Amino acid sequence: MTERKTLIAPSILASDFSRLGEEVESVVRAGADWIHIDVMDGHFVPNITFGTPIIKSIRDRTEKVFDCHLMITPADPFLAAFAEAGCDIITVHAEAGPHLHRSLQSIRNLGKKAGVALNPSTPENVIEYVLDNVDVVLQMTVNPGFGGQAFIPSIVEKVRRIKAMIGNRPIDIEIDGAVSPETAGPLVAAGANVLVAGSSVFQGGGEAAYAKNIAAIRKAADG
Ligand code: DX5
Ligand code: ZN
Repeated sequence: MTERKTLIAPSILASDFSRLGEEVESVVRAGADWIHIDVMDGHFVPNITFGTPIIKSIRDRTEKVFDCHLMITPADPFLAAFAEAGCDIITVHAEAGPHLHRSLQSIRNLGKKAGVALNPSTPENVIEYVLDNVDVVLQMTVNPGFGGQAFIPSIVEKVRRIKAMIGNRPIDIEIDGAVSPETAGPLVAAGANVLVAGSSVFQGGGEAAYAKNIAAIRKAADG
C-alpha cells in the first residue's frame, strides 16, 4: 500500500491522432487522472509530434490536468505559449538548457506547476539545487522520443534515490516510459506516485479497453 493513490497519466502520443478530441474524452471517462502531452521537436529528441495549436484544440475536451512534457530545446522561448495553450504542468528536461533554475522559475511565474524531467543516463543530483522550484520530477524509464520502447530496469533504483532526495517536499515523482501492469508495482514501491502510460493504456482501442487497461495498471500500482 502507498501513502497516496497513484495517479495515472495516459500519454496521447499512443492515441488515434485523427480523433484526438474523442480520444481524450474516452480516456478521461476510462479513468485517466492527468492527460500527458508529449511535445517533441526533432532536435532534442529524434522525433516530431505537435505543438501549441493542437493542445489548444483539445483543451476544452476535459477539465483534467494537462501534463505537458516538453522534449524541446530551447524550451524557454516557448513556455508562455504552452501556458497560454492550457497546460497546467509544464515539464522541461534538465538536459535541454543551461539555466534550469531560470526555466523552472519562469514556469511558476506563468502560474503553472513546474516539472523537471531526467533522461535515464542523467544523474539525479543535477536537480538537487532546484528542488524548491519544482512541483514534479519526471524520471524517464526509456530514452525519450518514442512510445512503445523497452523498460530500463536499473531506473527503479534511481527512483528510490530521487524519493530519498526529495524527502518530505510536496513533489510528485512521475515515471514515463514502458509503464505497464508488470512495471508499475516496483516503480510505486520505489516512490513513484504518477505513472505515464501510452501503449499500455491505448492498446486495444476504444473506451472499454482503455478502462480495463487503466484499471490493470492501478491494481498493480496500489493493490
Ligand atoms: C516518450 C514519451 C512517453 C511515451 C510513453 O518519449 O515521453 O510519454 O508516450 O510511451 P509508452 O508508455 O508506450 O512507453
Ligand atoms: Zn512523456
